[in-house]
Amino acid sequence: MYRTHNCGELRIENANSQVTLAGWVQTVRKFGAITFIDLRDRYGITQLLLGEELNYLLDENPLGREYVIQVTGTAQERTNKNPNIPTGDIEIHVQSYTILNKSAVPPFTITDETDGGDDLRMKYRYLDLRRNAVKKNLELRYAVNRSARNYLHENSFMDIETPFLIKSTPEGARDFVVPSRMNPGQFYALPQSPQTFKQLLMVSGYDRYYQIVKCFRDEDLRADRQPEFTQIDCEMSFVEQEDIINMFEGLVRRIFKDVKDIDYTEVISRMTWEDAMWQYGNDKPDIRFGMQILNLKSAFNRNNQIEATGELINGAGFGVFDNAETVLAIAVPGCSEYTRKQTDELTEWVKRPQIGMQGLVFIKCNADGTYKSSVDKFYSEDKLKAIATAAGAKAGDLVLILAGREERTRKATSELRLEMGKRLGLRKENEFKLLWVMDFPLFEYAEEENRWVARHHPFTSPKPSDIATMINNNPVIDNPEKYLEHPYSNIKANAYDMVLNGNEIGGGSIRIFQRELQEKMFAALGMSTEEANHKFGFLLGAFEYGAPPHGGIAFGFDRLCSILGGSESIRDFIAFPKNNSGRDVMLDAPSEIDEKQFAELQIKLNLQ
Ligand code: AMO
Repeated sequence: MYRTHNCGELRIENANSQVTLAGWVQTVRKFGAITFIDLRDRYGITQLLLGEELNYLLDENPLGREYVIQVTGTAQERTNKNPNIPTGDIEIHVQSYTILNKSAVPPFTITDETDGGDDLRMKYRYLDLRRNAVKKNLELRYAVNRSARNYLHENSFMDIETPFLIKSTPEGARDFVVPSRMNPGQFYALPQSPQTFKQLLMVSGYDRYYQIVKCFRDEDLRADRQPEFTQIDCEMSFVEQEDIINMFEGLVRRIFKDVKDIDYTEVISRMTWEDAMWQYGNDKPDIRFGMQILNLKSAFNRNNQIEATGELINGAGFGVFDNAETVLAIAVPGCSEYTRKQTDELTEWVKRPQIGMQGLVFIKCNADGTYKSSVDKFYSEDKLKAIATAAGAKAGDLVLILAGREERTRKATSELRLEMGKRLGLRKENEFKLLWVMDFPLFEYAEEENRWVARHHPFTSPKPSDIATMINNNPVIDNPEKYLEHPYSNIKANAYDMVLNGNEIGGGSIRIFQRELQEKMFAALGMSTEEANHKFGFLLGAFEYGAPPHGGIAFGFDRLCSILGGSESIRDFIAFPKNNSGRDVMLDAPSEIDEKQFAELQIKLNLQ
């Protein structure tokens, strides 16, 4: 037996017992004739005391950091207890030890506060994984996994695996492709999600499916995106939107309870996509704080009504506002006393290329009821007061205003709102606010291609009330300038996203399950009948053999874990992640393959 206990297990009750432990040497500290060692394994750290009688052994077989050793001794009550670790009441008075394996000096210290930079830690990820901070994240991930599986199992969901080598049907992101040796010149694709398989399983009668499954997307990476990531993927038959919402609110509440011991009993709010865009400037609002956006003048399409009042700001001779497509304001609480330096810094912040604005206008709503602004020249104090009041500002607040092209300004205002929320400490790590965003447009207009694309994916059904609009109208866009006036712009999807603290953690929809409507959908996206049959003939065919009404959702498992763990980066919650260029720096992948492999695949490389 290598060990009687693990390194996190021994307590005061174990004092005076004989034990054998095995683990990694975290630190070696010599105090005169006595040597203290912190021995570490997955479960914790136990202090070892090696007395004078072992010095000859230590001289012959010195111990270094990360050596793997086995020790035998007695557990003793410590005189200097360490209240910071669970084993802090005892230490092991070592009688003998064996070096099971030596270690080279690790390239960074394996402690919570490591001296290793990101790249180094990724290269030696197997060492990084020994660190408590990373281990805690993987433990949380496993807890979320168990909780989800238990809940889904208790609700009759069945875990069914689906293939990884599938057909390439690029619709959303770019596919990763894999050449087939047995079918020269042909390629598989790795699935972006098991979407069509789970729908086929519904046709097959497995009315509650789930899978915790890898998905692959060749897209640009960000902190919350990896080229391979994991979904909790689910599908149900004989359901409407409300059934799915209830079932998966249950899942998320269960995860909160099991993993964070939080009773998330409050009602999960719902917001239409339009309200989200209108009030928060994006489709995944962080509702832990207010600071909603006010449109002082806007061309944003709301129910096809162009709201462009502009009465508060137009005509004052301030060209920036007069000529802007949109002017958006937020009221930042308690910041009216910002200094010139602080407002200048904020102006620089919005001018950064990532935000891309030309400048920032502010109104200080002073505590004494006066108003001061960077555009005093153009607006009387009464006007400033009217604008600030409309923006929901109170005495003591600072109103920030951005003006410019619709899309960029909305995005920038949304970013500014999030930044101010962060600076003011309103985005608390330990506060969790869930939200459903619903009623998305079914289609988005792709300017470059002058055609419609599916906002979610092409299997999402329109709202029942919009089906006739879809069937009865020709999708062709005659006048790209006026695409907003095309009836397809107003078709809403039977789709929903779950948002947690400003992150999209899941998304799904009620699906199309009739061949005719699915064909209409493919046609709307500009696919010919041949193309639709070539790419999705299997699904259209399946819909002819008794497809039940169905719908589902997929949660971003990595994202959910990272938010529950209080981190912005999903990489911290993946055992072996890729870096921002999609590289695994530990394996050094991707890499070239040799001539023989090319020959077997009958492929010639011709890099452009
Ligand atoms: P969707 O594309 O919205 O839906 O993906 C579902 C959830 O997966 C997460 N996610 C990602 N996480 C990490 N890295 C990525 N590159 C990445 N891309 C997406 C997000 C997202 O909400 N088949 C549909 C689901 C359905 O309709 O049932 C789908 O894949 O948290």
